[in-house]
Amino acid sequence: MYTTPKGAGAAGGPRKITVPELQARKQLGGASGASGTEGGAITMVTAYDFTMARLIDEAGVDMVLVGDSLGMIVQGATNTIPVTMDEMVYHTRAVARGLGRAHLTSDLPFMSYQASPAQAVENAGRLMKEGFAESVKLEGGAEVAEHVHRIVRAGIPVVGHVGLTPQSVHALGGFKVQGRGEDAADKVIRDALAIEAAGAFAIVLEAIPPDVAERITEALSIPTIGIGAGVSCNGQVLVCTDLLGMSRGHKPKFAKAFAPVGDQIVAAVAAYVAEVQAGTFPGPEQTYKPNGPAKPALHHEAPSLDEPLPLDLWH
Ligand code: KIV
Repeated sequence: MYTTPKGAGAAGGPRKITVPELQARKQLGGASGASGTEGGAITMVTAYDFTMARLIDEAGVDMVLVGDSLGMIVQGATNTIPVTMDEMVYHTRAVARGLGRAHLTSDLPFMSYQASPAQAVENAGRLMKEGFAESVKLEGGAEVAEHVHRIVRAGIPVVGHVGLTPQSVHALGGFKVQGRGEDAADKVIRDALAIEAAGAFAIVLEAIPPDVAERITEALSIPTIGIGAGVSCNGQVLVCTDLLGMSRGHKPKFAKAFAPVGDQIVAAVAAYVAEVQAGTFPGPEQTYKPNGPAKPALHHEAPSLDEPLPLDLWH
């Protein structure tokens, strides 16, 4: 059933989580391992549409990410590279309408910021103005520090993303763990420090060894949000369809299904098919009252094509 959306900041609705509150979680000792409490570890989940966003918000998640993973999850592509700015704006706006409490961050997709800091500011602005995002996320380390700095100077909060950066899937040779070995670990740590220095208020660490994530979490004064980065981060993020057991095929090591929703969807739709075929759906509860006592079926003449159609034909 459709009900009226709560809408961000709606009167009487829950209070929105702010960027300073999220930053303060770091000082409150919000490591996932020691968490579960209000003010502890940050929870982030992806969403791509209004209905999912509203349910995730109701569950009390702190941050909702409109990830460019929508290329795979929504569009069925094999990676995030084809996702466009217009698509990100469209999905971000739909998600924004479903959130009352959670902070909304949205991904800058491939080639929407890499070309120049000016391009980055312009497209970050679009996600805020047209999509109603409250912060933007972008991938990369030292090479995009200037871009982050310029976006932040424009008054837009930024979440960084280092380690496995899926927009660089071809350069990395696949979706592989990053930061293995001392040199590679040092590079991820330097990248994270560069993004913090550029002004990001939080940073996603994707697919790195847990000890490297722990070193980064200790070295930074902004919260780290891990996905495949172990339990020492200040928060965790999961793709909603992974969390809900809706994915099919390959599952990344870090994905955990907290409920078999995919199987439940298949069972529910199969039950619908069976009831329709058995003639038991719709039942009396799903059927409007008849017009009057049942009458013997009349034979209706089809209207002649030469005569005008009666105006109330469809009512
Ligand atoms: O696009 C995405 O969903 C992401 C998360 C996996 C962090 O970047």
